[in-house]
Amino acid sequence: MLIVSNLDVPLQTNEKSILELENIFKEYSDRKNKTHTKLIVINNLNLTIKKSEFVTIVGPSGCGKSTILNLVAGLDQVFDGQINVDDKPISISPSTDRVVVFQEGALFPWLTVYGNIEFGLAIAKVPKDKRKEKVMKLIEMVQLSNFTNAYIHQLSGGMKQRVAIARALALNPKILLMDEPFAALDVQTRKMLYSHILRIHEETKKTILFVTHNIHEAVALGDRVIIMSPKLANIKKQIIVNIPRPRSIDHPLVESITRAILSESDESFVNGGVAEIEPDNVDINNNVIPTVR
Ligand SMILES: Nc1ncnc2c1ncn2[C@@H]1O[C@H](COP(=O)(O)OP(=O)(O)O)[C@@H](O)[C@H]1O
Ligand SMILES: [Mg+2]
Repeated sequence: MLIVSNLDVPLQTNEKSILELENIFKEYSDRKNKTHTKLIVINNLNLTIKKSEFVTIVGPSGCGKSTILNLVAGLDQVFDGQINVDDKPISISPSTDRVVVFQEGALFPWLTVYGNIEFGLAIAKVPKDKRKEKVMKLIEMVQLSNFTNAYIHQLSGGMKQRVAIARALALNPKILLMDEPFAALDVQTRKMLYSHILRIHEETKKTILFVTHNIHEAVALGDRVIIMSPKLANIKKQIIVNIPRPRSIDHPLVESITRAILSESDESFVNGGVAEIEPDNVDINNNVIPTVR
């Protein structure tokens, strides 16, 4: 069985770590409770990610996935513990070390595909000819060459997310952070995007930290799946996904590992029983739950 270990998957010594989360503690003032009690969302979390690794974080809605990503991104700096990139604590000043792709790409509707991808490079004062070369290469990478001059409203949801990915990559981040980037897309489009992101990872060897509530997606994409538990406010389990790359999203192990995770999961993933899992039916979001037989 491929579920190999609990909390700490040791790093092979010759593999360089790029991101380290050390003893991360994060609490919020409880929004639902007016007595100002605190809600502990992350409690002493440790996680190390290797260069070029594709790590997926999965867990039910509200378990702190976005919180982790926002801390790593530097969007939220109120926490205890330490986050290192390349052995250095992440700095307070804005950095293009880490760039986030959100569920809704937040693209600029007044700019074309080209303009959106070019935007960050223009801000960074990259010379125009260099910019063009880079943008055209990225447009090719996300396979939108026929849409170079299209405006955002002329694109499908999947195309928009590909623009968002290209725009993030334009900044040449060390780590690409993705917060449920495909959650708003239909099943067919999502599958296409899986192939795109796997290919892009293959081509760029970027380190990717990818958050999702969809177990199937986490397994299909990740070298390692980090399962979060809201009860623990921490990592419950890590799973090495030994499916070779370049990877087919239809590899039979994707489904069997997904099944294994679901069958081991408590009520926070499935409401008891043995889950009959269709690959497209493994969302653990409130309304889409695997058929229980
Ligand atoms: N700014 C905030 N203030 C108070 N509570 C928050 C805030 N952001 C998130 N939370 C709470 O923290 C928990 C984790 O949120 P989040 O990281 O967004 O979860 P996930 O991304 O896994 O759905 C949830 O209970 C959420 O309601
Ligand atoms: Mg979230």
